[in-house]
Amino acid sequence: MSQATATDFVIDAAPVIPVVVIEDASKAADLAKALVAGGLPCIEITLRTAAAMDALEAVASVEGAIPGVGTVVSPQQLEAAKKAGAQFAVSPGHTASLLDAAEAINLPYLPGAATPAEMQGLMERGYKNLKFFPAEASGGAAYLKNFASVFKTIRFCPTGGVSLKNMHEYLSLPNVDVVGGSWVCPKSAVETSNWDELTTLAKEAIKAAHAITA
Ligand code: 3PG
Repeated sequence: MSQATATDFVIDAAPVIPVVVIEDASKAADLAKALVAGGLPCIEITLRTAAAMDALEAVASVEGAIPGVGTVVSPQQLEAAKKAGAQFAVSPGHTASLLDAAEAINLPYLPGAATPAEMQGLMERGYKNLKFFPAEASGGAAYLKNFASVFKTIRFCPTGGVSLKNMHEYLSLPNVDVVGGSWVCPKSAVETSNWDELTTLAKEAIKAAHAITA
C-alpha cells in the first residue's frame, strides 16, 4: 500500500507552509531553524533554483523541521528529493507519471489541482489532500468554497497569492486547514540573513490563523 496519499501530517502540522525559493544552500539550515522557532515546521523548498536540492538536504538536518520539496515537475525530481531527505512533495499540478512515481517510492505527495475534473481524478486515485494552485488567480476562496459540499473528503492547501492579508478567507473555509506562501520567507530577509524577521513572520502568521480558527 502506498503512503503517497498519507499527507495528513503535512496539513496538520501548522496552519502555514512556507514556500521557499533559495539561491544559497549555505543559508538553508539557518532559514529552517528560524521558521521552526516561529512554529512552522513544514518547509517547502521549491525546485526553482540550482541550490534547491542541497538546501533540502540542509533543512533535513535541522531538528524539528519537516522538509518538503516543491515545484516538482518530473518523477526524477521526486526520487532525487526523497534521497535528499524530503518527507513530502508538492507540485503545481500533477501528471499520471508523477502520481505513479510518488506511489512507487512511497513519498507523501500533495498534487496540485485547480479544476473540478482534476480534483475528481485525484479523489478517484485516493488523494484527500491537494494543493490548490494558483489560488488567487483561479478564483480564490470564493471559488474553492464550492468544492466543500461536492468533494467532502478533499482538503486543500491553497497557494499562489496567499498572504497574511487574505489567509483568513481561506482558513475560514471548511475544506482548508492550511495555506502555503512565500510571504513568510521573503527574498530580502534571506539575502540579508535576517532570520529574526522569518521567526517574527511565522509567529505573526500562526497568531492570525489561530484567531480565525478559534
Ligand atoms: C507556490 O509555488 O506555491 C507559489 O508560487 C507560492 O506563491 P506565492 O509566492 O504567491 O506565495
